Amino acid sequence: MKTKELYDKYLITSMVAGFQPVEVDNATGCTITDTDGKQFLDCFSGISVCNAGHGHPNVTAAAKEQIDKLVHCCTYVYYNPRAGEFAKVLAEATPGKLQQSFFGNSGAEAIEGALRLAKQHTGRNEIVALTHSFHGRTYATLSITGNSARKINGGPYMPGVSFAPAPHFYRCPFNSATEEECGERSALALRDVIKYHTSNNVAAFIAEPIMGEGGIIVPPKNYFKLVKEVLDDLGILFIADEVQSGFGRTGKLFAIEHYDVEPDIMTMAKGIADGFPLSSFTTTPEIASAFKPGDHLSTFGGSPVSCAAALANMNVMQKENLPQKAEQRGNTIMIAMKKIQNDCALIGDIRGKGLMIGIELIKNRDKTPASTAAKAVQTLCLEKGLLVGVGGTLANVVRLQPPLVISEDEVSKAIDILSSAIKEVASDYSLYRHVPQKRTKAK
Ligand SMILES: Cc1ncc(COP(=O)(O)O)c(C=O)c1O
Repeated sequence: MKTKELYDKYLITSMVAGFQPVEVDNATGCTITDTDGKQFLDCFSGISVCNAGHGHPNVTAAAKEQIDKLVHCCTYVYYNPRAGEFAKVLAEATPGKLQQSFFGNSGAEAIEGALRLAKQHTGRNEIVALTHSFHGRTYATLSITGNSARKINGGPYMPGVSFAPAPHFYRCPFNSATEEECGERSALALRDVIKYHTSNNVAAFIAEPIMGEGGIIVPPKNYFKLVKEVLDDLGILFIADEVQSGFGRTGKLFAIEHYDVEPDIMTMAKGIADGFPLSSFTTTPEIASAFKPGDHLSTFGGSPVSCAAALANMNVMQKENLPQKAEQRGNTIMIAMKKIQNDCALIGDIRGKGLMIGIELIKNRDKTPASTAAKAVQTLCLEKGLLVGVGGTLANVVRLQPPLVISEDEVSKAIDILSSAIKEVASDYSLYRHVPQKRTKAK
């Protein structure tokens, strides 16, 4: 049976409708090869996972060595040395007083645990999240996700959840004239949401430092400092969801470092082990002490193999300066795309940090979302050998999130393919201004 037939018959699939999936045979670095031998330049990293590149030799070697020693052991009556070692590395790498970690398998699992810990520590039971957010597909994480398209047919959701407006300058609900004003008004709005929408029993506020699935939304520089003041004032914990933005992707090891703010709990997954399943919520010893032994447990969490891979992944991050590389390569892409924007009314906004870049496509000056165009750009890129993502609450943001090991040549190739795809789609919509060739003066 062909893979497609197997999927259609035997899998509860999450394949995007109307898109021809690539049947992957193998991948290395930024190159994915399909079962017919066709190669693709990967600018999506398996949804921002393979930050150190597909199959980084140091990471796979560490995992293979561990497989030969120990694959699994019970998480409550045996010590697993790799878990201890990786927790120490995380304590040193995460900001501020964050020191103790709980290991799970997925982003959603980390967030579920973080919510429970926040409730247990504060003795409160409400949560505030942001509109445009995404935190996972389990019951609690969908409940705190601020996007109805993701929540469809899953309700009713968990009580005790309120939403504050996302600090989204391009589509600012307050029509702010500057990013600073947007940051200020969004932080003020959070105070209002706590005051008017909750029963004043809020355990935690959760936010992605840079919002991924919502369309690569970069909060204004002043936002998180102002938010932390509000939260500290009211004794509410700040959970930074770094599941997508962590591990070098935005030019820093963690995106919250751009804001110089220390979260009380940080959740991580995706890029943590270059593709091996692992997640963590990491917090201060004081907050961690709210969990008594046995309160919380995960059978596969912190698997020896995933932790060995995660240790090697962290070494690679440091040795190969991946956060700095992400910043440099990201700047090159942003500058190139902004040049095209001048002649292309289809591009409404280009935003991001490091190699977490979103290009928002619009139909007109009213910023009507061009979601069909975004899909068309993605399909054209695929035909030309480039894999990009599409997302955003309005499904109109082309997402570039390549492995951070992407070379300069690969960046140039990605820019060429993406630009030509955007120009082609914009021309179809008459939203690309063709600049006449400069004529040389007649003699
Ligand atoms: C910010 C954020 N949090 C949580 C999740 C959920 O992670 P997982 O799919 O590993 O459960 C995601 C997944 O895209 C995410 O982007």
